[in-house]
Amino acid sequence: MKKLIYSLFVLFFITSCQNSNLTEKEKFIDNLISQMTIAEKAGQMNQYNGFWDATGPMPEGDYQKKRYNELKNGQVGSMLNVIGVEEIRALQKIAVEETRLGIPLIFGHDVIHGYKTMFPIPLAESSSWDLELMQKSARIAATEASADGLNWTFAPMVDISRDARWGRVMEGAGEDPFLGSLIAKARVRGFQGEDLSEVNTIVACAKHFAGYGFSEAGRDYNTTDFNHYTLHNTIMPPFKAAVDAGVRTFMNSFNTLDEIPATGHKHIQRDILKGDWNFDGFIVSDWGSIDQMIPHGFASNGEHAAELAVIAGSDMDMESSLYVSKLVGLVESGKVNEELLDDAVRRILRVKYELGLFDDPYKYCDQDRSDSELGSEENMMVALDAAKKSIVLLKNDNGLLPLKKQNQKIAIIGQLANDKNSTLGNWRSQVEYNSAVSVVEGMKKYKGNKTIYQKGVDLYYGETNFHNRVKINFKDKSDFGKAKLAAATSDVVIMVLGEEGHQSGEGRSRTNIDLPGLQKELLKEIKKVNKNIVLVVMSGRPLDLTWEDVNIPAIVQAWQLGSKSGDAIAQVLYGDYNPSGKLTMSFPRNVGQVPVYYNFKNTGRPSTSIEQVTNSGYADVENSPLYSFGYGLSYTEFKYSDFEISSSTMTKDSKINASIRVTNTGNYKGEEVVQLYLRDIVGSIARPMKELKGFEKIELNPGESKIVNFEIENSLLEFYSYNNVWESEPGKFHVFIGTDSNVRDHKEFYLTN
Ligand code: BGC
Repeated sequence: MKKLIYSLFVLFFITSCQNSNLTEKEKFIDNLISQMTIAEKAGQMNQYNGFWDATGPMPEGDYQKKRYNELKNGQVGSMLNVIGVEEIRALQKIAVEETRLGIPLIFGHDVIHGYKTMFPIPLAESSSWDLELMQKSARIAATEASADGLNWTFAPMVDISRDARWGRVMEGAGEDPFLGSLIAKARVRGFQGEDLSEVNTIVACAKHFAGYGFSEAGRDYNTTDFNHYTLHNTIMPPFKAAVDAGVRTFMNSFNTLDEIPATGHKHIQRDILKGDWNFDGFIVSDWGSIDQMIPHGFASNGEHAAELAVIAGSDMDMESSLYVSKLVGLVESGKVNEELLDDAVRRILRVKYELGLFDDPYKYCDQDRSDSELGSEENMMVALDAAKKSIVLLKNDNGLLPLKKQNQKIAIIGQLANDKNSTLGNWRSQVEYNSAVSVVEGMKKYKGNKTIYQKGVDLYYGETNFHNRVKINFKDKSDFGKAKLAAATSDVVIMVLGEEGHQSGEGRSRTNIDLPGLQKELLKEIKKVNKNIVLVVMSGRPLDLTWEDVNIPAIVQAWQLGSKSGDAIAQVLYGDYNPSGKLTMSFPRNVGQVPVYYNFKNTGRPSTSIEQVTNSGYADVENSPLYSFGYGLSYTEFKYSDFEISSSTMTKDSKINASIRVTNTGNYKGEEVVQLYLRDIVGSIARPMKELKGFEKIELNPGESKIVNFEIENSLLEFYSYNNVWESEPGKFHVFIGTDSNVRDHKEFYLTN
């Protein structure tokens, strides 16, 4: 009894402390807002890109001077892309010491897959299915970014996408909402840590809200067209998961949905995010997306765009300069209610408060931390671990891999093999150019074999960067001969082909997703002189590898793996790490199949073969992708047996256990991602053929076996139904457990009332 009274007392004490903290924060913010002019409120809602070297001479030129004056007048609330402790300190000093109310700025930047230490691109890292690892890499990125003065990242991107033509798939977690939600949570927790006021945590941003991953024809910034149920069942879950994990900011998107630009979309921002989901952080527009409502044909001019955006719930204007220039007039003319500004400002100040910026606006400006914490050896070791775990073995005929470690002559061919830059990927933040370990360097660390490198062909020429198109070589084959000679005189050929690191990412859509340039031609030529080819594919998206799948015995999907790429690839090729990655996005048989994804609907005329004519299929290829979601091989083999479910009925309050035995029947120790899928046979809306609902990554020694259990409970059966709510519907379900989404063997059960 004494114990109970004591616990209640402690609980009461904690709750009242929390409440008083909460009120203190809100009181502080209300008090500040009550002192602000309309112009200062609009200022808090204004975000500028770094416009001048703040440690250098005073700004010159009208544009810079105007921004500088606005900064001094308290008309800037946030800045992005200001890099380094000294720069950030100098700008913060202006905000804190020279403006009337001294409100600190919040500094944002795209810390997408690392800051100084580069981790694999997010799509690659999602192939590890290792949530702890993803949380850790985000944690390290946050530690490095905060050590360099930043306190806000525009990540994670949680857009679901089914279209490999879209260059931004490299930034996401693939095609599945269930896995995407778990990854969204892991990344948010990684960036924000346990406590935002800690000096090594930064604010995360779930983006792009919403539907951007469905840009029509995979063309970036294009319009979208999907139905209400796709929005709720496929697109929204990772965003909701980010909110559940405590994400403090959102970014809206460039696209229209329901024919309305997301930035001006009141229903998704105010009704769903801020209403139904109770999100009390703030929404930043995407770059210039308020202004872009004019070419969308939704706003007639800048003033109208600002009015529509603020009414729709976009709290901060990234680089349109429209809030700062138009909101005062809009409030004064009565077109916009000042309370809307108060709400937006309250949200922004709340996040600044939680970061502890009002206690110490310079807390992230510690040069010693910046000097010692960036790109440390310890961080690099995590990058290596992440790189190894992101690699997916797509094909390995006759055990060509792993390579023998002694007395082999190995030809390494392809420009990307010797490239220390491309594999850093797009959105590479502050990593040094040309700083990755190349494949040639990684392979040379294995001294037992003789390696010879030949470029074979240039994939690209000239410099590559975020702003320019990569220039692809379609002409010069002059190095083919030397590469053929090297291949002809070698035991094994490692061909490193794929995309340059800036061929994917924002604004990098492609209509042809083959190996670019002359690389395939080179591959065909090499095959004429040596068939023992291991193809290492580096890319920021699924490529069309259909020819390669038929003609090349071993294929390794090595994405863009970051700082330690070459070491990771070499360790996998030599078997010092047994590949365990599984695809999170389907690889199409050809681009005409796109969008292709595992959780499709059956249609009224499901096709089982190409021969069937009036069924939903193609005359030239099967409906299935070349490599499906969840697919990935290991050097060992896993056998699945003894599949059981504990009952053939369940109610909304009960649970079923599904179990399976997995045995390592091969010769290597290995990891396997055991996957649980469910199918809801009949629904109030047509339901997908399969949906991932659980997974477990296990490690087994040769001969070892393990029983893997999954608990099936009502929440796993819920979906956004015809009634416009998340609910389960009684009826028949199929359960599948297997190595990838192609699994067919299933059990069935009934959900009863
Ligand atoms: C991108 C965002 C990014 C922003 C700031 C935009 O073009 O769509 O994802 O965060 O730029 O760099």
